[in-house]
Amino acid sequence: MPDSLHFPSDFTWGVATSAYQIEGAFDADGKGPSIWDTFSHDAANIKDGSNGDVACDHYHRYREDVGIMAGLGADAYRFSMAWSRVQPLGYGAWNEQGFDFYERLLDALQEKGIAAHLTLYHWDLPQGLQDRGGWLSRDTAARFADYAGEVARRFGNRLASIATHNEPWCTANLGYGNAQFAPGVCDAKQAIQVSHHLLLSHGLAMQAMRAVGSRAALGIVLNQWTSDPATGSAADRALAELEWARSVQWFMDPIFKGRYPELALRAHGADAPVVAEGDFDIIRQPIDFLGVNYYFRHYASAETPPRTAPCALGTTEMGWEIYPQGLTELLVKLKGEYALPPIYITENGMAAPDPDQAQGGQVDDPARIRFVQQHLAALQAAIDQGVDVRGYFLWSLLDNYEWNSGYAKRFGIVHVDYATQQRTPKASALWYRDFVAAQRGQRRAA
Ligand code: FCB
Repeated sequence: MPDSLHFPSDFTWGVATSAYQIEGAFDADGKGPSIWDTFSHDAANIKDGSNGDVACDHYHRYREDVGIMAGLGADAYRFSMAWSRVQPLGYGAWNEQGFDFYERLLDALQEKGIAAHLTLYHWDLPQGLQDRGGWLSRDTAARFADYAGEVARRFGNRLASIATHNEPWCTANLGYGNAQFAPGVCDAKQAIQVSHHLLLSHGLAMQAMRAVGSRAALGIVLNQWTSDPATGSAADRALAELEWARSVQWFMDPIFKGRYPELALRAHGADAPVVAEGDFDIIRQPIDFLGVNYYFRHYASAETPPRTAPCALGTTEMGWEIYPQGLTELLVKLKGEYALPPIYITENGMAAPDPDQAQGGQVDDPARIRFVQQHLAALQAAIDQGVDVRGYFLWSLLDNYEWNSGYAKRFGIVHVDYATQQRTPKASALWYRDFVAAQRGQRRAA
């Protein structure tokens, strides 16, 4: 199958990580605590009781990690900045030592000719802002815009792109809706208000970054899925439509159409968010790119107990259905509903039952290779149907701290032995390296 894949010649091939999941050095060089430090320090919140204090120690090993990316032949690296590293409280003073780390990282990437794609917010709000109300407070959106403007001013010309948020759906629904993620709140109404403040903060940050002026493309990263009715029943079809409205349209409509989807608003009823006059004008800023993270589809069943997805291709270690054609369907559906900017697949990958230690210097992960191949074929199908996709970032470069699953779930194409911090490229890393090189070869031949 991979031989039949021919991506556009200027297609970007990358790998992705996020700050809290790999950096460690949780209190080094003036970094303030984030809500993930607080949340993970209560071992009861995390399945294996672990935290991100050390993680992959990337803060100290970034040179080695950039070297690994270069060895893979990656064009691009998507990573996030820990806000509380560069502004310990989330307001007030900047921390130059924090900015220095990202400066060093950018230098290392530049040396290897790897394009840097930054995400400003991958879930680690400074605890200082949480203490002032966190995302439930409208003021946090303004603080986020200050941070975005400062980062764009300092680094904008060194970055290929800046995304405001990573998966605001998760921030709102897992952080405030069901307490699985920091800050661990379980309140549907708060989750919906938080989603509005996240969208508002996106718009304000876009304005702040545009005002600075830089070469970086500016956008946002959303986790998305198609929603399939389990049967042809009217109830299942209605549920599928509602899920699409509540998850995908809830974030896309404000950005692209300047309003919330009617169906979801009605379903939220009294929990609908407080929206101030002019908010949608702020949120509806033109974006240069849309980042799409795709892992699985949603399967909508109104029966009790609900029907479960058929999982014809199996599930990952997370229990997520492997459903590559959902990626094609999602992208084609988005194209039908919105006037889209260029799209990047900013995350896609799988947790596999890889061993804790590399065996004889090798980690064989054929399931991951298959997963990526299948999803690239699905991506190619979307491109063939006219969707403007410019790049693919595999999640993840390294095994890392998988949030409330701790270190038990391994998503990396590079194995990390957490006892020694030894990195070992898995078979999937070598496959990806060869695949990217082959695509380049086709580029040259074309
Ligand atoms: C996404 C997150 C990323 C990682 C993957 C598995 O939702 O953005 O940090 O946890 O899932």
